[in-house]
Amino acid sequence: MNLKGSSQIYGVIGYPVHHSLSPVFQNAAFEYLGLDAVYIPLEVHPDNLESFLKGLKGLENFVGLNVTVPHKEKVLKLADSLSEEVEKIGAANTLKFNKGRIEAYNTDWLGFLRAAELLSSLEDKRVLVLGAGGASRAILYALNRVGAQVFLWNRSKDKAVKLSREFDVSVVEDLEETLRDSDIVVNTTSVGLKEEDPPIFDYSLLKPEHIVIDIIYRETPLIKAAKEIGCLYQTGFPMLLYQGAESFKIWTGCEPPLKVMELSLKEYGYPTENSRTHQQT
Ligand code: ATR
Repeated sequence: MNLKGSSQIYGVIGYPVHHSLSPVFQNAAFEYLGLDAVYIPLEVHPDNLESFLKGLKGLENFVGLNVTVPHKEKVLKLADSLSEEVEKIGAANTLKFNKGRIEAYNTDWLGFLRAAELLSSLEDKRVLVLGAGGASRAILYALNRVGAQVFLWNRSKDKAVKLSREFDVSVVEDLEETLRDSDIVVNTTSVGLKEEDPPIFDYSLLKPEHIVIDIIYRETPLIKAAKEIGCLYQTGFPMLLYQGAESFKIWTGCEPPLKVMELSLKEYGYPTENSRTHQQT
């Protein structure tokens, strides 16, 4: 990295932020394209979010931010403009600083779509979505956009019912029955973050025809089962990469060097090859 006085600054805000992989592949992209820019992790306590963003507006060489947990919803009231997708999803993961104004975008939905479409087209597919939290909303938006038939399951059913009023989804009554009738299963819950998490359903019920997507980066018990059964499967890495690539495009107007970005993650020790088809991009 060759930082200069003229370098433009980008970053990711979260609390905590030390686990973020975005600095790895965003800096790789800047370097590869020869852009005079740097991308840094910024740990911001929720109590300081407002003053932090106000301060950044005055930083003339600050161009773009990714936003992660727990700030994705809170940035909405602090931004000067919201994209149509941000309004619908209710969360932003990308901010662009434009002449002292903050523009809020969401690329999570598009990251999910690009990644999932590596495995299959989604139009008219029957998709079982597990989870009705923040991550689920961007995915429901994406699935609605491409005309998938969505079945939403959540541990606490009332949240799924609430989401079904905002998105075009059916609330699951019987999980195992819906699984049998589904083409694609997407886990948006935090189950599987820890190896010992009890499974959401009996994963041996998966059939080789199922496509299984988990938005968690690690190989979760769900993904391991899908692999053993012979399903097409995908971890959260491709989605991470594609949402970041879309943010890169919004900030720089440049086509993101996807292969370079993916390779940087691999070199950092995060192999993405457990998502079979992603290797072809
Ligand atoms: P995120 O922003 O990552 O989606 P979140 O908004 O806290 O995080 O949502 C977490 C999701 O994981 C929710 O759907 C939650 O279910 P509840 O709404 O019933 O809490 C789900 N989740 C967390 N632990 C779970 C578990 N042990 N079994 C099933 N679902 C779980």
